This record gives sequence, C-alpha cells and structure tokens, in this order.
Amino acid sequence: MNAIKKRDILITSALPYANGDIHLGHLVEYIQTDIWTRFQRLRGHDATWVWADDAHGTPIMLSAKKNGTTPEALIDSVKIAHEKDFTDFQLSFDNFHTTHSEENRQCVETIYQRLRDGGHIVVRTIEQLYDPQTEMFLPDRFVTGTCPKCKTAEQYGDACESCGTTYDATELLNPTSVVSGATPIMKDSEQYFFKIENFDAMLREWTSGEHQLQPEMRNKIQEWFEGGLQDWDISRNKPYWGFEIPDAPGKYFYVWMDAPIGYMASHLHLLKGDEEAFNKYWGKDSTAELVHFIGIDIARFHTLCWPAMLHGAGYRTPTAVHCHGFLMVDGAKMSKSRGTFIKARTYLDHLQPDYLRYYYAAKLNNKVENIDLNLEDFVARVNADLVGKIVNIASRCAGFIVKNFDATLAAELPDNALYQESVAASESIAEAFENREFSRAIREIIIQADKANQFIADQAPWNLIKQHGEEIKVQQICTLGINLFKNLVIYLKPVVPDIATQTEAFLNCEEFTWSDLDTPLLNHKINKFKPMITRLESKSIDAIVEASKQDLATTNVAEATSVAAGQAGNEQLANDPISDEISFEEFAKVDLRIATIVAADHVEGADKLLQLTLDLGGEQRNVFAGIKSAYDPSTLIGRQTVMVANLKPRKMRFGNSEGMVLAAGPGGSDLFILSPDDGAQAGMRVK
Ligand code: 2FM
Ligand code: ZN
Repeated sequence: MNAIKKRDILITSALPYANGDIHLGHLVEYIQTDIWTRFQRLRGHDATWVWADDAHGTPIMLSAKKNGTTPEALIDSVKIAHEKDFTDFQLSFDNFHTTHSEENRQCVETIYQRLRDGGHIVVRTIEQLYDPQTEMFLPDRFVTGTCPKCKTAEQYGDACESCGTTYDATELLNPTSVVSGATPIMKDSEQYFFKIENFDAMLREWTSGEHQLQPEMRNKIQEWFEGGLQDWDISRNKPYWGFEIPDAPGKYFYVWMDAPIGYMASHLHLLKGDEEAFNKYWGKDSTAELVHFIGIDIARFHTLCWPAMLHGAGYRTPTAVHCHGFLMVDGAKMSKSRGTFIKARTYLDHLQPDYLRYYYAAKLNNKVENIDLNLEDFVARVNADLVGKIVNIASRCAGFIVKNFDATLAAELPDNALYQESVAASESIAEAFENREFSRAIREIIIQADKANQFIADQAPWNLIKQHGEEIKVQQICTLGINLFKNLVIYLKPVVPDIATQTEAFLNCEEFTWSDLDTPLLNHKINKFKPMITRLESKSIDAIVEASKQDLATTNVAEATSVAAGQAGNEQLANDPISDEISFEEFAKVDLRIATIVAADHVEGADKLLQLTLDLGGEQRNVFAGIKSAYDPSTLIGRQTVMVANLKPRKMRFGNSEGMVLAAGPGGSDLFILSPDDGAQAGMRVK
C-alpha cells in the first residue's frame, strides 16, 4: 500500500440550536461527519472536529422565558444533554463548545471590526414590524399573515408554504404577532448590513472551484447569483439574546452572524487560545483543510455569507462545504403523531448506536438527497449484514481456534490470494469513504464479506475437524477467516466504532489503523469470542416508536417557536378559531373531488413544493402543493386524496397550478393530506 501524505483537516458539523433535543434527523449529519472524520484518522491524517451549540437568538430567549428560567441556564442544561447524546452515539468530536462564549465574542467582534474597517458594513434605516404590546421588533417567524402573492392565510413572515414565494415580513397582509396576537405596527429601525455584493467576484470564483461544492450546489448558487446578492442584515434590535454590537448599543449581532463563527470559537477554545496554532488553520495562507458538513436548508449561509465573511475579515475560505438532504422515516418526514420523530435519547434507551450508524452509512452518498430510514428495512439490513455477514465470520471460525488450537492462529494462510484480494479492495473502499460515497463503501465491504463467507462455507471446517489429520488445515482456514474478518472490521471501523473496539479486544490487537490491513495475524493469540452485536429485534423498534409517541405528550422546550405560534397540542381551536358561518350554497360552490396521485416530483428551485399529477377519472391536473416538508414524493404515488377541483388556475413560477390538495397541520413535518376510505373513486364529488 502506498504511503499516504498526512493532511491537517478541521471538520465541523452544523451547530444545533440550544433549545431542543437531538433527534435522528440531526444524526444523519453528525454520523456522516463522524464517519468521515474517523476515516481520516484511521488513514493517519490529523482530523479535528469542532462544533458547538447555537445558543443565541429570539427562540432561545422565548424558550427560557416559557420555562421560567434564564437563557444562560437553559443553554447550559441543553449543552449537557446534547453532549451526552453525542458521546453516547460514539461521535468522536474534539470539542463541543457554545456560541455564547468569550471565544465567540472575541471572534465575532474581530470579524465585525475588520469587515466594518474594510467598508463592508453599511448602516441603514428600515421599517420593521414591531409588536406594540410586547414592545419588541418581530423576527420573521414571529409574524403570520396572508401571503401577498397567492393570498393563502397564516403564512410566516419569510415565505409562503403554499405558493413558495419568499418575501419580507412587512409585505404580509393582515400581519399578526405570534407572540401576543397584536397587530404589529411599522417602526423605523437602524440596522447593520453586510455588503455581500462586495464579494461577488470572490464568491463566484470560490463556488466555481472543483472541490468546494457538489455539482448540484454549484447550480443552485448560480440561481442565487442571478437573483443578485442582497445586503444582509446582521443586526437585531433589543430585546435580543446574543452579543451586543460593540459600537451600537441596543443592537445585537443576528444569531446567523455569530453561529458559523462558533466553529472558529470552538477551535480556539480547543487550542486554549493559542493564536499561532489557530492561524495555522484559519490564516489566509493556511494549507490545512477546512471542511463543513451541513444540511441543504442552511446552504446559502454557508456558501455565500460565511466565505464572504471569512474572506472580508482576512481569513481563509472553506476547502469544502458538503450538503446533505433530510431524513425521512418510512418515506415521510418525521412525524410526532406517527412516532417517527425519534429523539436520540429515545433511540439510545433501546438500542446501541452501531445499528443506526451502519444503516445511515448504507444509505448515505455524496449527493444532496434525502435518506429514508425504513424501519422494516433497518431491521432486515443490519441483521443480514452486520450480524449475518460480518460478525458471523468470526463466530464461525473463533470456536475452532480457541477450542482446538489453544486460541492461537496458524503460522500461515491456506489461501494468500484471498487475503490479498481483501487488501486490494482497500483503494476503492478508501476512495468511496473519501468522497463520502458511504453506501458504495458499504456495498464493496459486503462483497468482501460475501467472499469470506463463501470461502468458509466451501471449506466447511466443521466437517474437516472430524477428519483425522486435517487439524492444521482447519486451523489455517479459520485463521484466514479471522483475518478476513479483521480486514472487514478495519474497513467498517469509521462506521461501527463499538464493533471495532470489541474486535480489537477479541483479537488482542492495538487500535486498528488502515495499514493493519496489509499484515495478517499469524501465530497470534486471540480471545474467546463474544458476539460484538446481536440481532436487532423488531420489538425494539416498536418500543422506540411507542416511546416517541409518548414524547408527544410531554412538553418540549424545542418547540418554543411553534408554541409561540399557537400550534401546541390541544389548543387548536383556541388558537385558530372556527371561521364565520357560511350558507350551504356558499359551501357548495367549492367543488371537492377525489383524486388519485399518479405522479409526484420535486420542483427544481422550490423549497416547499411538490408537483403532483392528479387523476380525476376523466382528466388529469397539474397541482403544486406546499407539502414537500412532510412527504417524500415517491410515497404519494398511487394514493387517493381530496382536491379543490374548481379553484381558478394559478400561474406560478414553475407552471400552472390547476387546483389544490387539502391538508391539515401547522406545517413542517406536521402536514397531513386527506385520504378517503377504501372504495372511493377518482372523480367522485366530496359533499
Ligand atoms: O439550522 C440550524 O440548526 C442552525 N443552528 C445551524 C447553524 S450552523 C452554523 F452556521 F453555525
Ligand atoms: Zn403564497
């Protein structure tokens, strides 16, 4: 194997908000980061993973208030819980810090001052929505109203979930403060803007690099460039929970300004303030790599604002920003009522992390795609692969070695070519891990496992041992089996660290590294075999789903935003009173029909919409529905639902929408389209 040039890599995951529990959706990213980080270390590189809690912003301020505590106390307790979840999931980060730290204050102030001195900050007076009752300026998500474009009621202040239009909160019709229910007034406010436009050329160059972004992200960014880089408001008025802007009393840095800077702060904290070591990674001419893992929803901040901020303040720009999609469970967005909104802790109460880590790895690739945790497939896959194909090799071979050969492996292999084949797979497997094609890595590893199992089945040591004079052969066969198992575990070590640690102990080895692939263990004493992992039982999954449904009943501080928006539990009617009475004639004007969804697709460029083809029996309709946050399109095909069939067609950016699908729920993953009982036929009127 060729010697590998040592790399210095600084790795980050997105910072979780410090007011909510970690769930399996977060873990898609954290496990992805961890696998990549562990892989780099296994290959001998210096890989450091730093991150933090995202501890500022209005929702955290409101969560604390609602819980009768201070923001400081809230973020401290959440940090402890987060860190425990991460450690128990075997995430191998080097530092988990908080954005509410002196290091972060120092980094934010430095960056702000450098941007200001470089002429990249402007102060402008703008009108903002203000809640006269609570005497606060209202962030976008704290205002609801009617979409100025399609006139759908109850839309947030940033974007319409129905038609996908994004707008300014001040454009909402009939705005209402979700904090107090009052009608906001317009009030002048001086705000601080970061002139991202100054970085247009630099960003175009950075985003066009070959490795910085995935191809689909490069395309997306082109759209953002075409839309023009707007000045970005980095300030918020008091009351706000964050850092006050040094030269602007009463103004605070917007949480999204100090959040990514939290990566630097966490690193500085890890380095105990050592500026020289810090600059080795963050200095303009750094040769170290800076790699961010993020979700597609926060790509704009990380691919435009963040590199511009870094560059403008004289720091290096990221080497790569890797985006991933969202987690679906059984084909739909995680849902509390279905018990598929699973907290990390609920999972850990029932199962060891390696099962989920393996399953995620088997699903993850380097594209910006959603991954589906299909609970049935999850059980089948980990049992078939981890238990049935990997651990099974050791279980079939170890007994003979321990029992018949004083737990000592043979002095030579019976088939060196097979061992060399397992070593030769390393290049392609390493390339797959490096490129974050984890599903490909797993496929290739399982091919090697199949070969090993086939070899053992062909040699049938359980028969040979019964034949006089064949003992050495049995020892050699089982020695090869154990060595093939060793190599499989080395390949899988970034994915299933717990199995790897147990295997190191079983085989009496130091911590495996990639170079241990080359050398078979010969004349080597091993220990008694104990399965590193046992079959995953469906009843554990049932218990997790049940416990997650129970979670629904308990108050969750994570939901401060939606609680503030009046979307909690049983308060539906209180918060959304029944509308004014209408006559039957008025109702009868709405022509509701049963429709079969015959096609469902994502819509290029729309964050919230799915494009549906609805069959009404005699004709088909094209409808854009704002349900992407809750449904994987593939799960909708063939389903019946109810549509408004006589709604005037609406011209949208993506085409004509010829009707409307009915759905209940506040939005996000909690959207529920209607289904008729069995027997209804496409085209039937609903009355
Ligand atoms: O979207 C989120 O959950 C943010 N807390 C992520 C911040 S990542 C980075 F910018 F700090
Ligand atoms: Zn709209």
